[in-house]
Amino acid sequence: MVLLYKALVGGSMVHQPRQRLVDIYRHVEAVGGRTLDRTNSFLPTTPGTTSPSRAMAPSGDNTVANVHSGIDSTNKTLLKSDALYTYILDTTVFPREHECMRDLRLITDKHPWGYMQSSSDEAQLLGMLIKMAGAKKTIEVGVFTGYSLLATALALPEDGKVVAIDTDRECYEVGRPFIEKAGMAHKVDFREGTGLERLDELLVEDDGAASYDFAFVDADKPNYVRYHEQLLKLVRVGGTIIYDNTLWGGTVALPAGTPMSDLDTRFSAALRDLNAKLAADPRIEVCQLAIADGVTICRRIV
Ligand SMILES: C[S@@+](CC[C@H](N)C(=O)[O-])C[C@H]1O[C@@H](n2cnc3c(N)ncnc32)[C@H](O)[C@@H]1O
Repeated sequence: MVLLYKALVGGSMVHQPRQRLVDIYRHVEAVGGRTLDRTNSFLPTTPGTTSPSRAMAPSGDNTVANVHSGIDSTNKTLLKSDALYTYILDTTVFPREHECMRDLRLITDKHPWGYMQSSSDEAQLLGMLIKMAGAKKTIEVGVFTGYSLLATALALPEDGKVVAIDTDRECYEVGRPFIEKAGMAHKVDFREGTGLERLDELLVEDDGAASYDFAFVDADKPNYVRYHEQLLKLVRVGGTIIYDNTLWGGTVALPAGTPMSDLDTRFSAALRDLNAKLAADPRIEVCQLAIADGVTICRRIV
């Protein structure tokens, strides 16, 4: 899976910066000799123009195209190089990562299933969304060692709660000491079991239905469409539901019949089905981000 992911997202399917520059120059040529200034706008190369930006360009052939040229609604993505991703992590994510999250992340990286851990930029996004929503009562399905769970707990107010559901208590126990050290244990209500069963139980609890502000789903992909129906009953109108891995290593956009492992074939099909259903669901507003392995944000509106 990791190899497939690298092949798809970090390798052949992405444009490398060098190729991008070639594309940019081809584009400038294609638009008929127009050049670009440094403020994102096209400038006509009419002889005798007095534009200051035009004056900055040394001469026709040496003009450096604006980096956003050649971009339209079909290729405006920054996921093009490992260096760019490292830049984001080093600049904005890692310096602000809570030390207990960092320690848990590094321990989990050594776990045989460490690839399942949510990425740091995704965890930062989760925390930001929870704070922006002012969420107090939240659900997580798919805890693993608890990295995204700790991000959630840290973002909640002192009296906030996260019901954390996973079939695997052993993995949760790896992360529990870090949650405790961060002073967040009082916010976490871990419930062992399948997402479908535990969510059904939440629905019949007092103050269960329509009482949650926020939910994050990062578990068994083939059940996401079922989780969606349950969560639409548990999350209040105006609340948020987030689905992880909705681009499944880029496989959702591969041509039918592309060879894949059995697991990837099943999960990719399940996520394509989910994506189509979410896009057509009038009960929510939806937005799909090309961050991490694909993150879809839904807002319940009815
Ligand atoms: C990708 S990992 C979650 C990663 C986690 N969000 C993190 O930040 O580290 C998926 C988790 O879903 C759990 N899982 C798989 N099937 C499940 C199910 N039917 N119900 C609940 N949890 C499930 C697995 O045990 C695993 O811990």
